[in-house]
Amino acid sequence: MQKQIRIFVVMMALLVASAALAEASPTKRFDPGTQTCRILGFDSMWWGDGAKIFQNNCKSCHYRGNDQGAPFLYAESKSPAAWNRVFFKKYPQCARDGSWAALTPGDQLKLNDYLFRNGANTYDPNTAADCG
Ligand code: HEC
Repeated sequence: MQKQIRIFVVMMALLVASAALAEASPTKRFDPGTQTCRILGFDSMWWGDGAKIFQNNCKSCHYRGNDQGAPFLYAESKSPAAWNRVFFKKYPQCARDGSWAALTPGDQLKLNDYLFRNGANTYDPNTAADCG
């Protein structure tokens, strides 16, 4: 029994150490708007709610070659920190002119989660979080 506990403690220590060293897909996000820590689960994956919200509410303008004057955007267009700024400051013109009006505050959190999790330089297959 003692030995099992020791093995468990060592395993946990290794897990924490590997998470601290790796540049991998983030698993948590601090949301400055709500001052909450968000655990990035299924909703933030490419098949989750956040991706659908992005597709239905943002890609209607932000696709390649659109005639709205909107730059092409996808999750990797910005770093996770930069995506957080977009949603916290709401600096894009489209966020201020009513183009985001269909989004509830909950939708915006999920969308921010998705873009943060899949932002530029988050994916690294040589890490425990992304391999396999
Ligand atoms: C009705 C069309 C429209 C919709 C819908 C729209 N946008 Fe935009 N967005 C624009 C246009 C046009 C610009 C460029 C404005 C400018 O020139 O400053 C822009 C600019 C931006 C920028 C700044 C671009 C940059 O390079 O930094 C971001 C970020 C952005 N939008 C995010 C979003 C997100 C996220 C959504 C979905 C919630 C969204 N937009 C929905 C039209 C739209």
